[in-house]
Amino acid sequence: MVKAEFHKLGVIGAGVMGQALIQGLMRKQMVTLKNVWAAAKTEASCEKIRAELGITALTNYNDRLADTDVLLLCVKPNGIKGVLEKLKAGGLKPDTLIISIVAGATIETMENTLATENPVIRAMTNTPCTVGQAMTTICGGTHATQKHLAIAQQIFDAVGICMELDESHFNAVTSLAGSGPAYVFLIMEALADGGVRVGLPREAALKIVSQTLLGAATMVQQSGRHPAALRDDVTTPAGCTIGALLTMEDGKIRSVLARAVEEATKIAGNLGKEKK
Ligand SMILES: NC(=O)c1ccc[n+]([C@@H]2O[C@H](COP(=O)([O-])OP(=O)(O)OC[C@H]3O[C@@H](n4cnc5c(N)ncnc54)[C@H](OP(=O)(O)O)[C@@H]3O)[C@@H](O)[C@H]2O)c1
Repeated sequence: MVKAEFHKLGVIGAGVMGQALIQGLMRKQMVTLKNVWAAAKTEASCEKIRAELGITALTNYNDRLADTDVLLLCVKPNGIKGVLEKLKAGGLKPDTLIISIVAGATIETMENTLATENPVIRAMTNTPCTVGQAMTTICGGTHATQKHLAIAQQIFDAVGICMELDESHFNAVTSLAGSGPAYVFLIMEALADGGVRVGLPREAALKIVSQTLLGAATMVQQSGRHPAALRDDVTTPAGCTIGALLTMEDGKIRSVLARAVEEATKIAGNLGKEKK
């Protein structure tokens, strides 16, 4: 693997995702209190970041740009254009790597807005980055080299699993990984409701459901076997599992879930587009 090194990281938009990434990098000792800074829109958020993470946090970061090697952009989609314009006007170094996790912000839009030769990487991650279990995909822009991709890979590996994927898949990934935790939370809630319906206390039902999901997901990851094969293993003839599975199929669970992913992918395709 290409050696990936950076000395100073700036995180612009240190909200939920930005802070989770900083905390993950600190846990893995990839950044120290001294070589990372954060930016937020309001002074109130900066104060909170300083108090909670102990790092420099500012609303105006122009004088930090001269010695920053990597900028992680974690603002909301409607803020990315303004941030890129501010960077361009504010003294962005020509070799600073820009990594954006902003949903819908394409490499082409970011590169056109910047109109510089800065390496740009687009990433899509998800909220499990707050517990070190993110699924992140990355894709490099026109000026991004293997070294830049290796830096991004290292950053996102610090908060979970990261893989490179062509940008043409990013709407699908936004749906499957970005929104994915919400689908799973809904499924967990429904399964726990089932437990409550048959007499389990809510707390016990949720604990059983969450550990069962974690266990099943770990089995898929560690065994490398297809979920259908693992499902077959626990489906005893004339048993209760096949009864439950057929009830789910009657409710079209498979196509409902797959169509939901399709719908969110379509919506993701419109995220970065300006409203007329
Ligand atoms: N949440 C998810 O599930 C998820 C999943 C994948 C990707 N993402 C992407 O992650 C990005 C951030 O999401 P989030 O949930 O972390 O949002 P968030 O908690 O609202 O954080 C956004 C941060 O950006 C700051 N900000 C806004 N405008 C700014 C500016 N001009 N300069 C500097 N900082 C600015 C805000 O500061 P103030 O606090 O002062 O307003 C806030 O700290 C989004 O683009 C989203 O598409 C999110």
